[in-house]
Amino acid sequence: MHMRTKKWAKPELAVCPYFTDEAESLRGRWRERFPKDQPLYLELGCGKGVSTAAMVYDQPSVNFVAMDITCNVLGDTRRNIAATFGDKPVENVMIARYDIAYIHNVFAPEDRIERIYINFCNPWTKRPKYAKRRLTHPRQLMQYRDFLVDGGEIWFKTDDMPLFTESLQYFDACGFEMRYLVNDLHASGFAPNYVSEHEQKFSSLGVPIKFVIFRKKSGPVEIDPVRWVMPGAFARLRNAEAED
Ligand SMILES: C[S@@+](CC[C@H](N)C(=O)[O-])C[C@H]1O[C@@H](n2cnc3c(N)ncnc32)[C@H](O)[C@@H]1O
Repeated sequence: MHMRTKKWAKPELAVCPYFTDEAESLRGRWRERFPKDQPLYLELGCGKGVSTAAMVYDQPSVNFVAMDITCNVLGDTRRNIAATFGDKPVENVMIARYDIAYIHNVFAPEDRIERIYINFCNPWTKRPKYAKRRLTHPRQLMQYRDFLVDGGEIWFKTDDMPLFTESLQYFDACGFEMRYLVNDLHASGFAPNYVSEHEQKFSSLGVPIKFVIFRKKSGPVEIDPVRWVMPGAFARLRNAEAED
Protein backbone atom coordinates (compact mmCIF):
# COMPACT_ATOMS: atom_id res chain seq x y z
CA MET A 1 0.00 0.00 0.00
CA HIS A 2 1.40 3.38 -1.01
CA MET A 3 1.37 6.04 1.67
CA ARG A 4 1.20 9.65 0.57
CA THR A 5 4.31 11.65 1.50
CA LYS A 6 3.69 13.94 4.44
CA LYS A 7 5.52 17.13 3.58
CA TRP A 8 5.47 18.37 7.16
CA ALA A 9 7.16 15.30 8.66
CA LYS A 10 10.83 15.89 7.76
CA PRO A 11 10.91 19.61 8.70
CA GLU A 12 9.24 18.88 12.05
CA LEU A 13 11.63 16.01 12.78
CA ALA A 14 14.66 18.09 11.75
CA VAL A 15 14.06 20.51 14.64
CA CYS A 16 12.96 17.87 17.15
CA PRO A 17 15.58 17.50 19.91
CA TYR A 18 14.65 13.86 20.45
CA PHE A 19 14.91 12.73 16.81
CA THR A 20 18.02 11.42 15.04
CA ASP A 21 18.66 10.56 11.41
CA GLU A 22 22.23 9.64 12.34
CA ALA A 23 21.64 6.64 14.54
CA GLU A 24 24.96 4.99 13.65
CA SER A 25 26.87 7.90 15.24
CA LEU A 26 25.40 6.97 18.63
CA ARG A 27 26.54 3.32 18.53
CA GLY A 28 27.88 2.36 21.95
CA ARG A 29 26.90 5.78 23.40
CA TRP A 30 23.10 5.71 23.48
CA ARG A 31 22.95 5.83 27.26
CA GLU A 32 24.83 9.16 27.29
CA ARG A 33 22.14 10.64 25.05
CA PHE A 34 19.59 10.65 27.89
CA PRO A 35 19.65 12.93 30.96
CA LYS A 36 18.93 10.00 33.33
CA ASP A 37 20.97 6.79 33.47
CA GLN A 38 18.23 4.16 33.61
CA PRO A 39 17.17 0.99 31.74
CA LEU A 40 17.13 1.31 27.95
CA TYR A 41 14.34 -0.29 25.89
CA LEU A 42 13.99 -0.37 22.12
CA GLU A 43 10.86 -0.43 19.93
CA LEU A 44 11.42 -1.72 16.39
CA GLY A 45 9.08 -0.64 13.60
CA CYS A 46 7.17 1.76 15.85
CA GLY A 47 5.02 3.08 12.98
CA LYS A 48 3.05 6.16 13.98
CA GLY A 49 3.91 5.65 17.63
CA VAL A 50 0.35 5.43 18.92
CA SER A 51 1.30 2.97 21.67
CA THR A 52 4.87 4.31 21.93
CA ALA A 53 3.69 7.69 23.18
CA ALA A 54 1.58 6.17 25.98
CA MET A 55 4.27 3.65 26.96
CA VAL A 56 7.02 6.25 27.13
CA TYR A 57 4.88 8.70 29.09
CA ASP A 58 3.80 6.05 31.61
CA GLN A 59 7.36 4.88 32.30
CA PRO A 60 9.58 7.88 33.11
CA SER A 61 12.11 5.58 34.79
CA VAL A 62 12.92 3.87 31.47
CA ASN A 63 14.70 5.36 28.45
CA PHE A 64 13.36 4.34 25.03
CA VAL A 65 14.54 4.35 21.43
CA ALA A 66 11.66 4.16 18.92
CA MET A 67 12.86 3.18 15.45
CA ASP A 68 11.31 3.05 12.00
CA ILE A 69 12.56 3.26 8.44
CA THR A 70 10.49 6.19 7.25
CA CYS A 71 10.02 9.81 8.35
CA ASN A 72 6.47 9.54 7.01
CA VAL A 73 5.41 7.58 10.09
CA LEU A 74 7.99 9.03 12.50
CA GLY A 75 6.46 12.47 11.94
CA ASP A 76 3.29 11.08 13.51
CA THR A 77 5.32 9.43 16.28
CA ARG A 78 6.77 12.83 17.17
CA ARG A 79 3.35 14.47 17.11
CA ASN A 80 1.84 11.70 19.26
CA ILE A 81 4.64 12.00 21.81
CA ALA A 82 4.43 15.81 21.87
CA ALA A 83 0.65 15.69 22.31
CA THR A 84 0.86 13.09 25.11
CA PHE A 85 3.56 14.95 27.06
CA GLY A 86 1.94 18.40 26.61
CA ASP A 87 3.95 20.89 28.70
CA LYS A 88 6.13 18.20 30.31
CA PRO A 89 9.69 17.92 28.95
CA VAL A 90 10.30 14.84 26.78
CA GLU A 91 13.49 13.35 28.22
CA ASN A 92 13.16 9.57 28.07
CA VAL A 93 12.73 8.82 24.36
CA MET A 94 14.73 9.13 21.15
CA ILE A 95 13.06 8.64 17.77
CA ALA A 96 15.49 7.16 15.23
CA ARG A 97 15.11 6.67 11.48
CA TYR A 98 16.99 3.60 10.35
CA ASP A 99 16.70 0.36 8.37
CA ILE A 100 16.56 -2.31 11.07
CA ALA A 101 18.05 -4.87 8.66
CA TYR A 102 21.42 -3.26 9.51
CA ILE A 103 20.79 -2.62 13.20
CA HIS A 104 24.18 -4.03 14.25
CA ASN A 105 25.60 -0.70 12.99
CA VAL A 106 23.47 1.22 15.48
CA PHE A 107 23.71 -0.65 18.77
CA ALA A 108 26.67 -2.25 20.53
CA PRO A 109 26.84 -4.46 23.65
CA GLU A 110 27.82 -1.31 25.66
CA ASP A 111 24.36 0.11 24.98
CA ARG A 112 23.01 -2.65 27.24
CA ILE A 113 19.49 -2.85 25.79
CA GLU A 114 17.25 -4.57 28.34
CA ARG A 115 14.06 -5.01 26.35
CA ILE A 116 12.95 -4.93 22.69
CA TYR A 117 9.37 -4.47 21.53
CA ILE A 118 8.31 -5.74 18.09
CA ASN A 119 4.67 -4.91 17.41
CA PHE A 120 2.91 -6.10 14.26
CA CYS A 121 5.97 -6.26 12.06
CA ASN A 122 5.29 -6.95 8.39
CA PRO A 123 4.51 -10.70 8.19
CA TRP A 124 6.10 -11.30 4.75
CA THR A 125 3.99 -14.40 4.16
CA LYS A 126 3.35 -14.03 0.42
CA ARG A 127 6.44 -16.02 -0.58
CA PRO A 128 8.57 -18.25 1.66
CA LYS A 129 11.76 -16.58 0.45
CA TYR A 130 10.53 -13.23 1.82
CA ALA A 131 10.57 -14.59 5.38
CA LYS A 132 14.16 -13.46 5.81
CA ARG A 133 12.90 -9.84 5.82
CA ARG A 134 10.89 -10.38 9.00
CA LEU A 135 12.04 -8.42 12.03
CA THR A 136 11.91 -11.72 13.96
CA HIS A 137 13.95 -13.77 11.47
CA PRO A 138 17.23 -15.28 12.77
CA ARG A 139 19.07 -12.73 10.58
CA GLN A 140 17.59 -10.12 12.90
CA LEU A 141 17.48 -12.04 16.19
CA MET A 142 21.20 -12.81 15.99
CA GLN A 143 21.90 -9.10 15.61
CA TYR A 144 19.65 -8.24 18.59
CA ARG A 145 21.44 -10.88 20.71
CA ASP A 146 24.67 -8.91 20.42
CA PHE A 147 23.38 -5.79 22.14
CA LEU A 148 20.66 -7.28 24.35
CA VAL A 149 21.88 -7.98 27.89
CA ASP A 150 21.83 -11.58 29.14
CA GLY A 151 18.33 -12.08 30.51
CA GLY A 152 17.08 -9.20 28.33
CA GLU A 153 13.63 -9.68 26.80
CA ILE A 154 11.89 -9.41 23.45
CA TRP A 155 8.16 -8.69 23.58
CA PHE A 156 6.46 -9.63 20.33
CA LYS A 157 2.82 -9.04 19.29
CA THR A 158 1.13 -9.90 16.02
CA ASP A 159 -2.22 -10.68 14.43
CA ASP A 160 -0.61 -13.10 11.97
CA MET A 161 -0.61 -16.78 12.95
CA PRO A 162 1.97 -18.07 10.41
CA LEU A 163 4.36 -15.27 11.38
CA PHE A 164 3.73 -16.04 15.05
CA THR A 165 4.27 -19.80 14.94
CA GLU A 166 7.33 -19.54 12.69
CA SER A 167 8.79 -16.82 14.90
CA LEU A 168 8.55 -19.20 17.89
CA GLN A 169 10.98 -21.46 16.01
CA TYR A 170 13.25 -18.53 15.17
CA PHE A 171 13.51 -17.54 18.82
CA ASP A 172 14.17 -21.11 19.87
CA ALA A 173 16.94 -21.53 17.28
CA CYS A 174 18.59 -18.26 18.36
CA GLY A 175 19.02 -18.98 22.07
CA PHE A 176 15.91 -17.40 23.56
CA GLU A 177 13.69 -19.06 26.17
CA MET A 178 9.95 -18.46 26.28
CA ARG A 179 8.67 -16.73 29.42
CA TYR A 180 5.05 -16.00 28.47
CA LEU A 181 2.67 -16.78 25.61
CA VAL A 182 -0.98 -16.00 24.92
CA ASN A 183 -3.00 -16.54 21.75
CA ASP A 184 -5.54 -13.87 22.72
CA LEU A 185 -3.82 -11.02 24.51
CA HIS A 186 -6.92 -8.90 25.02
CA ALA A 187 -8.80 -11.77 26.66
CA SER A 188 -5.81 -12.64 28.85
CA GLY A 189 -5.92 -9.73 31.30
CA PHE A 190 -2.22 -9.01 30.74
CA ALA A 191 -1.49 -5.45 31.87
CA PRO A 192 -0.34 -2.91 31.11
CA ASN A 193 -0.80 -3.41 27.38
CA TYR A 194 -0.28 -0.39 25.15
CA VAL A 195 -2.49 -0.81 22.07
CA SER A 196 -0.77 0.08 18.80
CA GLU A 197 -2.42 1.37 15.65
CA HIS A 198 -2.33 -2.05 13.94
CA GLU A 199 -3.42 -3.81 17.12
CA GLN A 200 -6.46 -1.55 17.31
CA LYS A 201 -7.27 -2.24 13.65
CA PHE A 202 -7.00 -6.03 13.84
CA SER A 203 -8.69 -6.42 17.18
CA SER A 204 -11.65 -4.31 16.00
CA LEU A 205 -11.99 -6.87 13.16
CA GLY A 206 -12.19 -9.63 15.77
CA VAL A 207 -8.68 -11.01 15.14
CA PRO A 208 -7.08 -12.29 18.38
CA ILE A 209 -3.72 -10.72 19.18
CA LYS A 210 -0.90 -13.20 19.69
CA PHE A 211 1.72 -12.17 22.26
CA VAL A 212 4.93 -13.73 23.49
CA ILE A 213 7.85 -12.76 25.73
CA PHE A 214 11.24 -14.36 25.15
CA ARG A 215 14.32 -14.03 27.34
CA LYS A 216 17.86 -14.15 26.00
CA LYS A 217 19.84 -17.11 27.34
CA SER A 218 23.52 -16.49 28.00
CA GLY A 219 26.28 -18.28 26.12
CA PRO A 220 27.17 -18.70 22.45
CA VAL A 221 24.63 -19.75 19.80
CA GLU A 222 25.96 -21.80 16.91
CA ILE A 223 23.76 -20.97 13.94
CA ASP A 224 24.45 -19.31 10.62
CA PRO A 225 21.58 -16.79 10.41
CA VAL A 226 22.00 -16.31 6.66
CA ARG A 227 21.91 -19.98 5.67
CA TRP A 228 19.54 -21.09 8.44
CA VAL A 229 16.30 -22.71 7.25
CA MET A 230 13.45 -23.77 9.42
CA PRO A 231 12.97 -27.53 9.59
CA GLY A 232 10.60 -28.33 6.73
CA ALA A 233 10.78 -24.81 5.34
CA PHE A 234 13.37 -25.60 2.73
CA ALA A 235 11.11 -28.10 0.99
CA ARG A 236 8.23 -25.60 1.05
CA LEU A 237 10.50 -22.92 -0.36
CA ARG A 238 11.67 -25.17 -3.20
CA ASN A 239 8.08 -26.16 -4.04
CA ALA A 240 6.94 -22.55 -4.07
CA GLU A 241 9.83 -21.46 -6.28
CA ALA A 242 9.12 -24.32 -8.70
CA GLU A 243 5.57 -23.05 -9.10
CA ASP A 244 6.78 -19.57 -10.16
C1 LIG B 1 2.76 -3.04 10.05
S1 LIG B 1 3.58 -1.62 10.66
C2 LIG B 1 3.34 -1.71 12.41
C3 LIG B 1 3.48 -0.37 13.08
C4 LIG B 1 3.26 -0.35 14.59
N1 LIG B 1 4.26 -1.13 15.29
C5 LIG B 1 1.89 -0.85 14.94
O1 LIG B 1 1.78 -1.90 15.59
O2 LIG B 1 0.91 -0.18 14.61
C6 LIG B 1 5.28 -2.08 10.48
C7 LIG B 1 6.24 -0.92 10.65
O3 LIG B 1 7.57 -1.42 10.57
C8 LIG B 1 8.35 -0.54 9.78
N2 LIG B 1 9.46 -1.30 9.19
C9 LIG B 1 9.35 -2.38 8.37
N3 LIG B 1 10.57 -2.82 8.01
C10 LIG B 1 11.46 -2.00 8.62
C11 LIG B 1 12.88 -1.92 8.62
N4 LIG B 1 13.62 -2.78 7.92
N5 LIG B 1 13.48 -0.96 9.34
C12 LIG B 1 12.73 -0.08 10.03
N6 LIG B 1 11.38 -0.09 10.08
C13 LIG B 1 10.77 -1.05 9.38
C14 LIG B 1 7.39 0.03 8.76
O4 LIG B 1 7.84 1.27 8.23
C15 LIG B 1 6.10 0.16 9.57
O5 LIG B 1 5.99 1.42 10.18
